[in-house]
Amino acid sequence: MSLAGKRILLVISGGIAAYKSLDLIRRLRERGAAVRPVMTAGAREFVTPLAVGALAAGHVYTDLFSREDEQDVGHIRLARDCDLIVVAPATADLMAKMANGLADDLASTVLLATDRPVLAAPAMNPKMWAHPATRRNVAALRADGISFVGPNAGEMAEGGEAGLGRMAEPLEIAAAAEALLAGGDRPLAGRTAVVTSGPTHEPIDPVRYIANRSSGRQGHAIAAALAKLGAQVTLVSGPVTLADPPGVTVVKVERAEEMLEAVLARLPADIAVMVAAVADWRVAAANAEKIKKRPGEAPPPLLLAENPDILKTVGHHAGRPKVVVGFAAETQDVEENGRAKLERKGADLIVANDVSPETGIMGGTRNSVKLITAAGVEAWPDLSKEEVAERLAGWIAGRFSRQP
Ligand SMILES: Cc1cc2nc3c(=O)[nH]c(=O)nc-3n(C[C@H](O)[C@H](O)[C@H](O)COP(=O)(O)O)c2cc1C
Repeated sequence: MSLAGKRILLVISGGIAAYKSLDLIRRLRERGAAVRPVMTAGAREFVTPLAVGALAAGHVYTDLFSREDEQDVGHIRLARDCDLIVVAPATADLMAKMANGLADDLASTVLLATDRPVLAAPAMNPKMWAHPATRRNVAALRADGISFVGPNAGEMAEGGEAGLGRMAEPLEIAAAAEALLAGGDRPLAGRTAVVTSGPTHEPIDPVRYIANRSSGRQGHAIAAALAKLGAQVTLVSGPVTLADPPGVTVVKVERAEEMLEAVLARLPADIAVMVAAVADWRVAAANAEKIKKRPGEAPPPLLLAENPDILKTVGHHAGRPKVVVGFAAETQDVEENGRAKLERKGADLIVANDVSPETGIMGGTRNSVKLITAAGVEAWPDLSKEEVAERLAGWIAGRFSRQP
């Protein structure tokens, strides 16, 4: 009984998938959890409190202004007297309220008043899920630490439409709840991650090299954020002037070929986040001795050779991590290039940023990124690199609760 003794508050909102919540209650209870249901007015249009209460073997909470319920448990205790809140189905509407801190009914008030972990199982029409407003809300909720399971791709209950938006199956939701409760506030406990950071230096001769303006700030912050969530992190770093992040194993390299070797040595891993600005080219035959400047002689030509593509190699590797994230530093057509990169490199997510000199991103302390996945594009506001790292680590943790 993997959920033995756990108290789960199940918020059911008004989606057609609410019928699956009846089965979810059974699945949670057969794993030993006590389930206390809260239903929105919308939910009660789809399933009856009678059926929900019968399966949960207890009272169903529906009304914020119920004098009886308020005297009995009260909305604040309802929000706190549990180990986990599961929102299933999570409608577009309820997620919009959660993302904006609205509290105009019992469900949204409880979700605002809680200090417990929250797992949401969205369910909606694919167009609603893909709508920029929902994308924004989901991004905000992820940043607030809400975990997600699903939605899955497939036929909609209404029929005739297919796509991303089906609620995760009750067994998946129960498994995600288990994983979340097992991990506590360290949802990546037991996961291994390899992160690359900084520039690479490609030698011309023993004293000269080709490099770029990457500072390593973003990659180092991501390594630290993943470690904070419990992952065992190896940071493969090019030459930077930053301190090693706490709780992270750091492997220092100079060249792209060394970086690839160090990354591959860490596979299989659960997570790969390839942030380093790896030089696309190296000097084909670096000189063993310092190239001398001789009076009257023309400057030496630099013949370049292509460097290995680390992200692509990892994305197509036999030991491919479950979650592969690549960074795309672009100066034009950021979205378009990011999307092409996603497919070509076999990544789950491309974090695209505009590194044109006027943005100050390359080498700077702030970042403004777009998340490009197969499901679409999510633009994040201008944030510090640490904030981007925290949000990204939350996004990665969400991928694991989605694919337990
Ligand atoms: C037949 C029907 C099915 C619906 N299915 C969904 C759904 O799957 N997901 C969703 O987000 N909204 C769905 N809606 C719209 C919600 O019921 C509506 O936004 C409602 O205000 C949600 O209220 P709540 O979030 O407070 O439960 C559906 C509406 C109808 C009439």
